[in-house]
Amino acid sequence: MGSMKEVKAEDGAAAPPSNGVAAVPTATGGPDNPTRRGRSGSAAVLPLEVGTRVMCRWRDQKPHPVKVIERRKTCSGGPNDYEYYVHYTEFNRRLDEWVKLEQLDLDTVETDVDEKVEDKVTSLKMTRHQKRKIDETHVEHGHEELDAASLREHEEFTKVKNIAKIELGRYEIDTWYFSPFPPEYSDSPKLYFCEFCLNFMKRKEQLQRHMRKCDLKHPPGDEIYRSGTLSMFEVDGKKNKVYGQNLCYLAKLFLDHKTLYYDVDLFLFYVLCECDDRGCHMVGYFSKEKHSEESYNLACILTLPPYQRKGYGKFLIAFSYELSKKEGKVGTPERPLSDLGLLSYRGYWTRVLLDILKKHKGNISIKELSDMTAIKPDDILSTLQTLDLIQYRKGQHVICADPKVLDRHLKAAGRGGLEVDVSKLIWTPYKEQG
Ligand code: ACO
Ligand code: ZN
Repeated sequence: MGSMKEVKAEDGAAAPPSNGVAAVPTATGGPDNPTRRGRSGSAAVLPLEVGTRVMCRWRDQKPHPVKVIERRKTCSGGPNDYEYYVHYTEFNRRLDEWVKLEQLDLDTVETDVDEKVEDKVTSLKMTRHQKRKIDETHVEHGHEELDAASLREHEEFTKVKNIAKIELGRYEIDTWYFSPFPPEYSDSPKLYFCEFCLNFMKRKEQLQRHMRKCDLKHPPGDEIYRSGTLSMFEVDGKKNKVYGQNLCYLAKLFLDHKTLYYDVDLFLFYVLCECDDRGCHMVGYFSKEKHSEESYNLACILTLPPYQRKGYGKFLIAFSYELSKKEGKVGTPERPLSDLGLLSYRGYWTRVLLDILKKHKGNISIKELSDMTAIKPDDILSTLQTLDLIQYRKGQHVICADPKVLDRHLKAAGRGGLEVDVSKLIWTPYKEQG
């Protein structure tokens, strides 16, 4: 079964202090407006309002601060029986979930009056590139421009996970985020994916019927790498539009800050598979723009949850740089990076750069490091700064690599991940045909 990894988000904001937080107004009581008296003497009105902050018993059985994002009536319960969709303010949004009233400690209820302001700030935190993507997506759908209000609406719309689980190959996987599946699918508790063509269905029997007909046993496109049981396929979004779109719908379930590009024509998808006698099973992928103005060599990266923490993420990252080397360009991942994306990139950059610094005993420039690795100089600088290996002398950044310090960092950098065997990569850079 697919499992979910729990990581404390670096960006997870702690619950705000009590200033800016209003007590819940005293309720009138009565059957339609039940109340519970809180610790402060104020009463919690049921059902709780969206925006309420309260402590919630999590799966570790301990109380954690949450914010109520949405509420809904339970199908079996009475008129006042609601369940609540909550965001654990200490954790990443992927852990947001529906909880029962019993899990909430009503003595701790606080209502946040600054809600609107806060929402505005988060929705405006999008990068220019992200906004351009949303704009383009919406232009395609007949909207000229997205203003701040529409962006807020977009956030509103994606705040509650729509599909709770998927079945893919041998795995049932809990999803992490909202994904904009077509409306006829978006109310399904579980979607069934064909693991080869990535078509999705609402019922198991439909999938079974499909599997008898589907003749794919690997992703469409060209196999450009094979080493042992690992294969990488390059899929052109223009030639395999439906596959590209299916992959985006699937990936969005695990990617928060990515706007879905409906225009998959502009992308190549690199799909990593573990192969056996039943076929090539997708482990993860990354996408890459055919032409990037910003020298991005990777747009989105995903390792499916059942395969995470086994080194595939670093393999995919290494692969993206091998492609850049073949193109004779430096590259960088598209921003913003997720918490897990940043951890993986930092880990990769650290290991690659420290290995070279060790070999060259530190006598190497940032430009030379970039030429050797295809890592963008900015990313090299920020990595070495984080490791405290950079000094600023006479208006220049200088690498100061004490061998003992290098060894200490290398030890701390952990495992190297799966290696890309470049001799097994058969690939030429993308060229527009005709
Ligand atoms: N908790 C703590 N550290 C973690 C975790 C975790 N759950 N997952 C990864 N890391 C860190 C570790 O340092 C790990 O190295 P280690 O195992 O040697 O300690 C390192 O990241 C990479 O581990 P890998 O096994 O190589 O990577 P994985 O196959 O798990 O994939 C990835 C990493 C792709 C980021 C995965 O977590 C994922 O798909 N997440 C969801 C989608 C996502 O956030 N993608 C990045 C978005 S940014 C962008 O697309 C440009
Ligand atoms: Zn299929």
